[in-house]
Amino acid sequence: MQIQPVKQLRGEVSVPGDKSISHRSIMFGALAKGTTEITHFLHGADCLSTIGCFRAMGINIEDTPDRILVHGKGLHGLSEPSSFLDVGNSGTTTRLISGILSSQPFATTLSGDASLNSRPMKRIMEPLGMMGADILSQNGNGCAPLLINSLLPTGQNPSLHAIHYHSKVASAQVKSSVLLAGLYADGLTLVTEPVLSRNHTELMLNGFGANVQTEVHSDGSATASILPCEELYGQKILVPGDISSAAYFIAAALLVPGSELLIKNVGTNPTRAGILEVCRAMGADITYLNENRDSGEPTADLLVRTSTLHGTTVEGAIIPTLIDEIPMIAVMAAFAEGTTIIRDAAELKVKETDRIKTTTEGLLAMGVDVTPTDDGMIIRGGNPVHGGQINSYLDHRIAMAFSIAALAAEGNTEIQDGQCVDVSYPSFFTELHSLSL
Ligand code: S3P
Repeated sequence: MQIQPVKQLRGEVSVPGDKSISHRSIMFGALAKGTTEITHFLHGADCLSTIGCFRAMGINIEDTPDRILVHGKGLHGLSEPSSFLDVGNSGTTTRLISGILSSQPFATTLSGDASLNSRPMKRIMEPLGMMGADILSQNGNGCAPLLINSLLPTGQNPSLHAIHYHSKVASAQVKSSVLLAGLYADGLTLVTEPVLSRNHTELMLNGFGANVQTEVHSDGSATASILPCEELYGQKILVPGDISSAAYFIAAALLVPGSELLIKNVGTNPTRAGILEVCRAMGADITYLNENRDSGEPTADLLVRTSTLHGTTVEGAIIPTLIDEIPMIAVMAAFAEGTTIIRDAAELKVKETDRIKTTTEGLLAMGVDVTPTDDGMIIRGGNPVHGGQINSYLDHRIAMAFSIAALAAEGNTEIQDGQCVDVSYPSFFTELHSLSL
């Protein structure tokens, strides 16, 4: 994919539905009694993997261009798939579904692409194992393929015990996996994480009729708890626009001179909106308009105008609220005056790629002064950024972040395997093109 610098960006964009919420709508809808109607669902490859998994377990999911209907069969309605479940590139599918599958009376195997099958799964195998789940890594390396209930006698119901799990990482995927297993456990299940991670599972499960409580403690750690429940009930869900997708257009409007973009209907849940705080700290001109709520999640239209940015430090409790936006923040830092330090973000190493490596490699290819560190990077910005050869390593967020860098750089940029944006934003390049002058 060749990207040339543009003169200006102008107009309106409505980003696709939130990926985290889209996944959860399918999963919780499948486990609910009755029909769940989902509007503004993200038709990205990751969420299609979730749909594929639940269809393979007997759930009828009608997928029309304007809405999805999930005909749920209740908490005990899934059936044994005829072959392994293909989770594609999706960590969210794998980790959340493992919590659900641990309590089903049949065996399943989860496997994905090369990236997915090298990501750490011990983080869910450990707590699910403590609950009594039968979950094994096929190759014994703590990664997928995962075998779930492979030792369970046919037709027997696994029995899961309630636990209080203290997670070392602030991970919504770990938290959600344990909470979903907790739906089927024998008492109150609790998960404490060092810093609050995205809370869509907690908000949405309560909407479906579960009993989830949350508490943020004075030291910033957070505990979510769930009681087993009899039934979940189908819901109508309007998925807000994905702030992680909006981040690319926010950055594009800030960086390309003379730009003004209205980004409509962006989810601004505080557990996701750290990018907006960082933009403000860097001197960005962003106005919130039409603040609203969709299915319990706050939303706003964002009016973004070109701004002179300066460096900042991104660290601590804000990290989980912007973890997926760090490649984009690093690119903004390259164009900002002064130094930006990103730390406390070692989780970047276990995303679709090691994003400390892939982000710094991309920045270096564009002539940026950047030093990778153990838990982040240091970017000395403000020097000319030139076009270059960017290897996306098939990581959608690397492809998109560097496409934006290319718009504001000098000279042309080649993004290798740019089509990997399909994972979360299939129409990304079309949208970008339509806004470019
Ligand atoms: C997600 C949680 C985050 C995020 C991922 C989606 C989710 O991962 O990076 O893109 O939907 O729960 P971790 O839970 O591993 O931090």
